[in-house]
Amino acid sequence: MRDLRTHTNSRLLAALEFDDHDSPTLVPMPLGDRRIANVRTVGLVLLVMTMSGRGRVIVTGASTGIGEATALHLRDLGFSVLAGVRRAEDVERLGDHGFTAMRLDVTVPDQIAAARAQVGNQPLVGLINNAGITRSGPLEFVSVEDMREQLEVNVIGQLAVTQAFIDGLRAGRGRIVNVGSISGVLATPMTGPYVTSKFALKRMTDVLRRELLQQGIDVVMVEPGGIKTPLMSKTTREFERVHRDGPPELALRYGAMIRTAIEHTTKIDRHTGLDPMR
Ligand SMILES: NC(=O)c1ccc[n+]([C@@H]2O[C@H](COP(=O)([O-])OP(=O)(O)OC[C@H]3O[C@@H](n4cnc5c(N)ncnc54)[C@H](OP(=O)(O)O)[C@@H]3O)[C@@H](O)[C@H]2O)c1
Repeated sequence: MRDLRTHTNSRLLAALEFDDHDSPTLVPMPLGDRRIANVRTVGLVLLVMTMSGRGRVIVTGASTGIGEATALHLRDLGFSVLAGVRRAEDVERLGDHGFTAMRLDVTVPDQIAAARAQVGNQPLVGLINNAGITRSGPLEFVSVEDMREQLEVNVIGQLAVTQAFIDGLRAGRGRIVNVGSISGVLATPMTGPYVTSKFALKRMTDVLRRELLQQGIDVVMVEPGGIKTPLMSKTTREFERVHRDGPPELALRYGAMIRTAIEHTTKIDRHTGLDPMR
């Protein structure tokens, strides 16, 4: 704990310094006081979880990146991890690593229902809503379909999964960890759909936190920035696609901004991004 504190700020410490659901610190606080800011490594996500003791935890988007690192670390800490993935081959691969892996596309109601049935009525100590995608481009030209898909995965899917497992979380006096982003703090150009989704997720988290406060379910948001995961190259490819497939006016008006955005994601991917396993 002491080592990790060197990576935290006061708001993070405020969020972490409780482990008793009956503690007076659980009386309603101003919005945002329980949010974790400036997460430097995914380890902090895990620290939040460890405060609840061992038990059953669901991680969505566990095939790669932060989700996979989180699932591995929680498994090593002794949690029983239910890893949600989209592809059958990932179910098999993660099964070989000691997880109970299940198909869980957060936009597919049948898969959510099947995962809920698989978990049954067992108590849960955690749900990590980590699944996410990026859709990019100048808002003037972003397709409505791209925007819908972005919100469907990053916001509506998170709510659908939360609703499905909330009884288990209530039974386990569990904790919901929503994975936000620095893009829910800073509105950067060329990432409008993603920024919109993370701001929405952040405020949805705030509401949920207040609604569940008296029910023993803690709701936390982490807001990472610049972690070296496949998301960076996926985002670079998104920028390239938008630039390539857009009308000539898009390149004319926004080409320079898109190039800057590509430089940024490439830099994180190759140089400055933090290792999610650290
Ligand atoms: N990397 C960063 O710097 C950074 C910064 C801030 C926030 N974040 C957030 O961290 C979270 C994880 O991202 P990451 O960086 O670890 O990226 P990643 O490696 O690309 O992981 C994204 C995960 O989400 C899954 N996913 C995508 N669409 C899904 C859907 N419809 N249903 C279920 N799962 C779906 C992916 O599954 P497939 O493999 O099947 O596509 C993958 O497992 C995201 O919410 C992201 O916004 C990342």
